[in-house]
Amino acid sequence: MPQKILEILSLGPATTRTLAAGTGMTRQTVNRKLRELGDSVVKFDKIRPPLYYAVTEAFESGSKIPLAAVDPHGNTHLWGVLRPLSHGGFYLQPTVIAPKVLRGHKETGFFEGLPFFLDDLRPQGFIGRQIARGLNAQSDIFPPDPRNWNQEHIGRYLVANGDDLPGNLKIGRMALDRVRRPPQKARREDYPELADKALEGDVHGSSAGGEQAKFATYSRERGAHVIVKFSPKGNGELATRWRDILATEFIASEVLHAYDIPAAELEIFEVQGRLFLESLRFDRIGEHGRLSMIAMQAIDSEFSGIGSGWLKVAKSLEHQKLISRQHFFDIAVYWGFGKLINNTDMHLGNVGFSIDSSGFSLAPIYDMCSMGFSPKSTGEIPPFAFSPPDIDGTLSYIKDSCPMIKGMARSFWKKTGESELVSDAFKRFLEQANPLHKI
Ligand SMILES: Nc1ncnc2c1ncn2[C@@H]1O[C@H](COP(=O)(O)OP(=O)(O)O)[C@@H](O)[C@H]1O
Ligand SMILES: [Mg+2]
Repeated sequence: MPQKILEILSLGPATTRTLAAGTGMTRQTVNRKLRELGDSVVKFDKIRPPLYYAVTEAFESGSKIPLAAVDPHGNTHLWGVLRPLSHGGFYLQPTVIAPKVLRGHKETGFFEGLPFFLDDLRPQGFIGRQIARGLNAQSDIFPPDPRNWNQEHIGRYLVANGDDLPGNLKIGRMALDRVRRPPQKARREDYPELADKALEGDVHGSSAGGEQAKFATYSRERGAHVIVKFSPKGNGELATRWRDILATEFIASEVLHAYDIPAAELEIFEVQGRLFLESLRFDRIGEHGRLSMIAMQAIDSEFSGIGSGWLKVAKSLEHQKLISRQHFFDIAVYWGFGKLINNTDMHLGNVGFSIDSSGFSLAPIYDMCSMGFSPKSTGEIPPFAFSPPDIDGTLSYIKDSCPMIKGMARSFWKKTGESELVSDAFKRFLEQANPLHKI
């Protein structure tokens, strides 16, 4: 029995010839019917013969879901319309101002799953778990663990809560039509309460990834959006070790800045028994302005599929001319420095980029700290021990920069040894076996 055009297309894309064969109609009739179907089909005509796709609805948001970007002045620009496809996947119908990379690695705008730039915005890490738990308590549509969310969960979340996502993207009609409100602001003296709330699962500000306890807010003192990590309360062994880790992140940022390397601008301070590490957000400008930000992880999953390793992924992206050679070298410098300061957490979520007109530009470096000393997930607190590895072999292609990287690392260990922020145990280790002497 002949099938209808949309029935055939719901199984996958087809040419007019296949449609004619499946429906028993002439190709002329198929062409006329396709025209009549209008917006319910998408034509991909960059190949011969052209392919037709049937469109469906997703995220309770219909079949035309706007994607927009907020600029540094806070104005919103349409980058495209997301068209969910009947047989699965999405097509991004880009506007003329949309950056090229939004079309994905095939440069077609067709994606088999949720497009990488949206998947990157899914709830993740500490704040992501709080978001998922909160939504699950309100409605059992959303699984309590965000790692179990499918693309429909992610999409519905992004459309309904897409006002204050990391980076500058907004998705869905509602996010575009909503009246712009000033951010909720806080003073440092409010941070202990915000920390307690974050631990209780109250997500007060924007979402952000990463496993450590944190919240996002707008700092009245700095007049800027910030991401704030904090230690457990008090001076117990666990809290003390996390303080040491936060201190190393602060010291590393001082060293990076001293070497004119773009790094997150941090402040560190104690309020009511917690140490707070406050980072000025580089994806926000003033109250409403935004800049693009996307993790290397999302870029890798679309463009290189390597899965891990800053250097390997950066090399592949440079090879594809998606990032500049300079940024490839910069990543190598960050990696070398990280290796020498016991940063065992250099995963692809810890390098950020912004989307630019032809590819991606490296964001300031963040989360650069001595994670190798952190408490284990079992709660165990490992004794201080670290032997800096040899980086020259791996970094032979930037060998001229290796002395500088080592200088940075020596400066880091020297400052750490002299810092008032670190614990007695950490100081003792540095007095007896400072890695500085082995670099
Ligand atoms: N200064 C910043 N500006 C904008 N985004 C940031 C900044 N610092 C961190 N982020 C984002 O927040 C996420 C979590 O921060 P991170 O320091 O990596 O926390 P964690 O130690 O929990 O991994 C990062 O992956 C990044 O996306
Ligand atoms: Mg991180």
